[in-house]
Amino acid sequence: MKKISLTGIKPTGILHIGNYFGALKPALGLARDYEARYFIADYHALNTMKDPAELRDTIRQVAAGWLASGLDPERVVFYRQSSVPETFELSTMLMAFTAKGLMNRAHAYKAAVEENREKGNDTDAGVNMGLFTYPVLMAADILLFDSDVVPVGKDQVQHIEMAQDIAQAVNANYRSEVLKIPQAAVEEQVAVVPGLDGRKMSKSYGNVIPLFAPEKELRALIMRIVTNSQGVEESKDPETSRIYQLYRLFASAEETAALARRYREGGMGWGEAKEALFSVANRELAPLREKFNGLMADPARLDGILGAGAEKARVIARATVSRMRKAAGID
Ligand code: TRP
Repeated sequence: MKKISLTGIKPTGILHIGNYFGALKPALGLARDYEARYFIADYHALNTMKDPAELRDTIRQVAAGWLASGLDPERVVFYRQSSVPETFELSTMLMAFTAKGLMNRAHAYKAAVEENREKGNDTDAGVNMGLFTYPVLMAADILLFDSDVVPVGKDQVQHIEMAQDIAQAVNANYRSEVLKIPQAAVEEQVAVVPGLDGRKMSKSYGNVIPLFAPEKELRALIMRIVTNSQGVEESKDPETSRIYQLYRLFASAEETAALARRYREGGMGWGEAKEALFSVANRELAPLREKFNGLMADPARLDGILGAGAEKARVIARATVSRMRKAAGID
């Protein structure tokens, strides 16, 4: 029997090429070896996103984006967190097993407190209970779905350890395996995707290429990638070139080797290299863009897919909650 993987996706911004290579592609690859489950963590996003139109739009864009990128809702379980109310039942029960001191040690909360101290504010200024109890909700997300492995970046490892702690407290109290203990799978060698200015591609740096940018915009953004002043005839080093680093992500091994040769030979200017990058990027992204636009233009279809996913998810979630309620004496 395959092990279960769970991927949580916080819908806090539109998807860009950095997300695609750093998160989407590796996560979608899990469906080969695992019984893969994916969800949109919309209640987690609510902690920071208070504009309803913006949140609604981001949730839809992120859901359509994962589907357009190849998530097959027939083969995996794909749902919105907010469509699985069992999450909140379990979360409430887990609260009773979560030490407040554990939450005090959570990185995100500690960072907020630290920032307040530096600014001379009240220590808890701007901290809502959603932020403070974030690790409990995340533990509920994970434990509800009997997850064996949770692929995460390094910044999320502490959250998985807290989910383990909380689950162990439950199991120890009831002297049985009520909840499965999850393991973090830390992605060590995810692609670092350079942004337009050469720093890591990130929304907070404002240097992103949106994954579903229309063809014209994609081309215009690629033309804006910052280069050095080497002339056309000069030999160029592929390894230090952002254009080459991006090209490599989209191109085959042969194409990549051929471009590296052309860099070293000299005779190819940055403009031509950018054209080559646009051509391989658009080759991969054009079909995704079409699928994405189709889903965004057909809200009923997107809702249908998410609704069917929620039904599948709730079958699993109900079983966990009923196990937990029985164990607790609230059945
Ligand atoms: N905290 C994760 C993030 O910020 C998102 C998330 C919420 C998540 N619940 C999860 C990830 C459960 C994995 C499993 O990216």
